[in-house]
Order: sequence, then structure tokens, then C-alpha cells
Amino acid sequence: MKLNIALLAGDGIGPEVIDQAVKVSDAIASKFGHEINWTPALTGAAAIDAVGEPYPDETHDICVNADAVLFGAIGHPRFDNDPSAKVRPEQGLLKMRKALGLFANVRPTFTFPSLIDKSPLKRERIEGTDLVFLRELTGGIYFGEKGRRDGGETAFDNCVYTREEVQRLAKKGFELAMTRSKRLCCVDKANVLETSRLWRETVQAMEKDYPEVEVSYEFVDAVAMRLVQWPNSYDVLITENLFGDILTDEASVISGSMGLMPSASVGTNNQLFEPIHGSYPQATGKNIANPLATILSAAMMFEMAFGLKEEAEAIRAVVNKSLAEGVVTEDLAAGKKAYGTSEVGDWLAQNV
Ligand code: IPM
Ligand code: MN
Repeated sequence: MKLNIALLAGDGIGPEVIDQAVKVSDAIASKFGHEINWTPALTGAAAIDAVGEPYPDETHDICVNADAVLFGAIGHPRFDNDPSAKVRPEQGLLKMRKALGLFANVRPTFTFPSLIDKSPLKRERIEGTDLVFLRELTGGIYFGEKGRRDGGETAFDNCVYTREEVQRLAKKGFELAMTRSKRLCCVDKANVLETSRLWRETVQAMEKDYPEVEVSYEFVDAVAMRLVQWPNSYDVLITENLFGDILTDEASVISGSMGLMPSASVGTNNQLFEPIHGSYPQATGKNIANPLATILSAAMMFEMAFGLKEEAEAIRAVVNKSLAEGVVTEDLAAGKKAYGTSEVGDWLAQNV
């Protein structure tokens, strides 16, 4: 099979972890007889520096014409403490999500047998955790009207959802639940927010189309609590953009390191795969960042964008092997020998 993939390394540790995902993907491709054509494109602070824009048109064209996009990370500290910055790397990410129509962000949380004791949570609470968040990604407070009034003394961010936006996300949630243990949790704040009441009413109306799926409705504050108490009680969770942003960071620590969790962002025509961690500026250029989240994102890409399940499983298997054998970066080394980012990538590519 010929795979055309747009490669957006982005900022910070992005290029380092992306390099490892390319190595491992190429090794998988040669093992299974595929040909990958990688097309690099600029994004984030790197793109601002080069062309003054975090998501240039040229990058958009490359993404639209690719079968899938593999993305590293976005963000640079020089923008974070400068509220007056006119262009920000993150705007590129939001623009890209919107322009590619990536309305559903798939963020799984699972544990690795050899890392159970690395989690800040007790073994008995997290064993067997295997849940997936479906976060709405192109609506809500992120994209509503925002601004200032009263001479700048008052600020507002509008949270807006349409029934159709909720339906298309919920549909993916129901369909995903059907392929798993058929449990779906709708996370909202329907006791306070009108948008949440629209979510709840829309999902309730869809229940009859999926009689086998057991649906629960929980408030976001309660989910934040239960997620660290009994994460293994959840299966598929659907939620709006901001709640999903917050809860998926919380969920990511369950596995033991934020450097481990992959994600996919999907729409009608395009698909993008990225680690859920950020650009980790403190580690940039030091060859210490954990590349596994990006490599596992590549596994999701093989499976979801190309239907290549065996290839995806081969990546997951070699990742598990590296963890079991202690071929890990310093975040997981716990006083033992730590491997560099590129050494982990080399080891995985040789062992697929
Ligand atoms: C994420 C990130 C982004 C978000 C930022 C960088 C805009 O935190 O992908 O979760 O808030 O969506
Ligand atoms: Mn986030």
C-alpha cells in the first residue's frame, strides 16, 4: 500500500519525537511491504518564524492532499507570557483543526502492565483501565465569539453548540462504544449550562438508535473525581471541547507518564494523529523526551487512517517490549539506565 502522510513536526520536542515515529513507521512499512511518502510542512512557532503565520496555506494544502497527518507538538514559551502577542503558535493548531474539519478528538487512556507502579494512583484503582475520551474539537468556548468590552475591563468567551455538532460527535461515541464494551458516558454540566442541556437532550434522543449501548450522564465535576478514583469503571466518554481538554490531561497521568498517550483527531475527510503532550520546551534538543506517545499515535494512524490493524498491533507490541525490557527515556527509568530519545527510536525500529 502507498501511504501519503503529511509530517508536521512543529515546535519544542516535536521534531525529535516525530523523527522516532518516522523511523518506526518506515521499519513497519518495509516489514509489511508498504511505501510511505512523507511530506514535511511548517507549523507553530517554527512557521511563525519562517513565514509569519502558524498554519500557512501551503501547510493546509499539504494536509488536505495527504491521506493522514502526523503531528508533533506546538507552542513556544516566548509567547506564553506575552498576552499582547498578535500571532500565537496555538492559533495554528486551532486553525488547522477547524480548516481540516477535525471535530472529534479520540484520546484513549490505558495502562501498560510493566508500568502499573509508575502511576501516581494505586495499582488496584487503575488495573484494567481502558477508556476513550471523544472530545468535541471544533466548537464550544474555543471557537465562540471572544472579546473585551467596557474599555477592556470586561472579557468574554462565548460557548456555543449546535445540535448537529453534538450529534456528529455523539454518533462517533455510540459507534465506538458498539465496538467496545457498549458503555457510553455523556459528560456535561447540565445542571448549570444551557449548552450542556442541549448536549444531554441530543444524546438522549439518539439512545433509541443504539439500544445495546448503556448510556450514563454525569456532571463534569463528578467525572473529574471519579476518573482518579475508579478510572476502570469507564469505557467511552463523550464531552465538549473545554471539558475534554481538561479531563484528558487528568486522565493521561493514570498510565504513569504523559509521554505515553496518543491521540487522533478525525473529521469527515481528514485525520490527524498526535501525542497528547505539548512541546515540552525544557527538554528541547536534549534527546531526553519520551517518543512513545508519538509512536503510538503512528500506530493509531496505521489502524484508523489505513485500516492496517496488524501493523498497528506490531507497533504496540514492540513498545510493550521496550517498556518490559527497560529501554526507556528518563521519565520512566526510575534511577536505572535512561536511553535517549533517538536510542529508543532506533531500538524500536530494529525490533519491530
Ligand atoms: C490540546 C492542547 C491545545 C488545546 C492547546 C495547545 C491549544 O492543550 O491539544 O489539548 O487546548 O486544545
Ligand atoms: Mn490540552
